[in-house]
Amino acid sequence: MIRVAILVGSKGRGSNMAALASACRSGSIDAETALVISPKAGTKAVLRAEALEVPVKVLHHKSESYADDLLSALAEAEIDLICLAGYMTLLPAAVVHAYEDRILNIHPALLPKFGGKGMYGMHVHEAVIAAGESESGCSVHFVNEVYDDGALLHQKRCPIEPGETPESLAEKVLDLEHLAYVEAVQIMAARLA
Ligand code: GRF
Repeated sequence: MIRVAILVGSKGRGSNMAALASACRSGSIDAETALVISPKAGTKAVLRAEALEVPVKVLHHKSESYADDLLSALAEAEIDLICLAGYMTLLPAAVVHAYEDRILNIHPALLPKFGGKGMYGMHVHEAVIAAGESESGCSVHFVNEVYDDGALLHQKRCPIEPGETPESLAEKVLDLEHLAYVEAVQIMAARLA
């Protein structure tokens, strides 16, 4: 059973975190959500984590001791795998190096297209539709020191229908994200076992 930490942002819904924590809790994957780390208390994601009885730690990325505090929290919880879910900043280099090949992120498009700085939330789906793409989807990838740049681990695709809007596409992709992230963590659980 691998121990997973999920890092969320302050503005996210926490839906990917909840999908992962629920899959762990139901025993459908060989992983345990040992810790959720949030920059702020009382956010939607934190409330959902608490409802799922997952331990939450609040650490802000602007704090001077952020890298050390994060490394200590991860070590203390004996974390094997870090999952970013709506985490909006770059991870400190020390954390990226300490957990090389054991940090995942999910992105709401088919990387390497439609990724990078500024490509988040609705901007991504607007760009995909404006580009006239025939399909979109989501990507789970390893995290390095550049936004959306690490090697791909898993993707799921959906067609773009005539009349598709950024909003309708966002909904479809979010449903795929929840499935893809759970599958990706199970792939890692098998690799790290
Ligand atoms: C997701 O669309 C994910 O791809 C992106 O941030 C969003 C987080 O959503 N990285 P949620 O907070 O998990 O609902």
